[in-house]
Amino acid sequence: MPGVVEASPSRVRLGDLTTLKVGGPAELWLVESDADLAAATLEPYRVLGAGSNLLVADAGVPERVVRLGRSFATLEAMNGAPDVWLGAATPLPGLVRRAQRVGLSGLEGLLGVPAVVGGAVAMNAGTRFGQLSDTLREVEVFVDGAREVLPADAIGLGYRRSALPPGAIVTRVRLALTPSTPERVQHAMDAVDAARAGQPKVKSAGCAFKNPAGDSAGRLIDAAGLKGLRVGDAMIAHEHANFIINLGAASAADVVALIEAVRARVTVPLELEWRRWGFPGGERAFPGTTPEPRGAGADRRPAR
Ligand code: FAD
Ligand code: EPU
Repeated sequence: MPGVVEASPSRVRLGDLTTLKVGGPAELWLVESDADLAAATLEPYRVLGAGSNLLVADAGVPERVVRLGRSFATLEAMNGAPDVWLGAATPLPGLVRRAQRVGLSGLEGLLGVPAVVGGAVAMNAGTRFGQLSDTLREVEVFVDGAREVLPADAIGLGYRRSALPPGAIVTRVRLALTPSTPERVQHAMDAVDAARAGQPKVKSAGCAFKNPAGDSAGRLIDAAGLKGLRVGDAMIAHEHANFIINLGAASAADVVALIEAVRARVTVPLELEWRRWGFPGGERAFPGTTPEPRGAGADRRPAR
């Protein structure tokens, strides 16, 4: 069809597309339309958001990596109406700022989460000040070669988890925000900002482990005396013990070894928060890890 840019694959180092900056090669399919999505998903695939919650293996992944392009980023839709549809490639930081400027409340708790909307749905991103599921009402997904709309309560959202249908690519979301004032929203954001002040600002993928019920993984790792523990260029951050940081040239093998060292020294079982890509020995590579939830970042297969 004239005017339609067809998705064309390129070979990339996935680490360059993640915030931890670790991980090997893959075939990247940048998509801008449903035709692109249909073409890209004809072979096994995974979906990449902003890469801020991913540990990618040094060998990379054999599946195609699909990423939504700019035509899926529609921040301008946030113009003051409390009920809004947004594209899944919209970066969360700009969205949170825009909501503040137009005086809409509900996204303050997501301040500082460096995701795009699709990844924030898949992980149900949040802080103790609020999570995406608080405002998420509907999710449009591309699955089985077509788009369909699912109610938010049909996708199994919980603490840092979702259960999207296998292979589903989130394309748009409907959020229901609450009319407020820019001043009040800013006030709420200041509290979130203060709570995040102690987090490291260098290469990481956010908190490595989920908090066990009633406790904090960071507190437990700190209490075990592990701040500064290092394997290669992967290190437990001095600022916050639940952040594994990349000092420069960390490999995925370094990061995995550090995770195992932490688990060996903390008596409470710690579940990884990150999605893991390209680890064939999955559970053996990550002892104590619960299986990937259905559809949420596990290997994606072609829809048909
Ligand atoms: P990615 O990391 O690219 O992918 C994560 C998962 O989402 C993968 O399984 C991927 O397949 C899936 N996915 C991505 N896009 C789509 C799509 N369109 N459709 C279907 N599935 C998709 N998280 C928090 O919850 N709270 C925090 O406070 C927080 N702070 C952080 C601070 C820092 C400095 C960093 C680096 C990370 C932090 N994180 C935090 C982790 C991370 O930002 C979140 O988990 C975020 O939701 C991941 O979104 P992403 O777009 O980067 O997804
Ligand atoms: N603590 C320590 N030592 C540390 C880190 C923390 O003793 O090295 C203690 C703190 O003093 C505090 C408690 O542990 O008493 C909790 O720490 P913090 O307030 O930093 O919160 P957290 O539970 O470690 C959670 C989320 C973060 C989110 C913040 C802010 C998880 C796994 N982590 O951290 O989310 O930004 O709250 O609300 O739920 C993420 O998910 O990637 C993430 C960064």
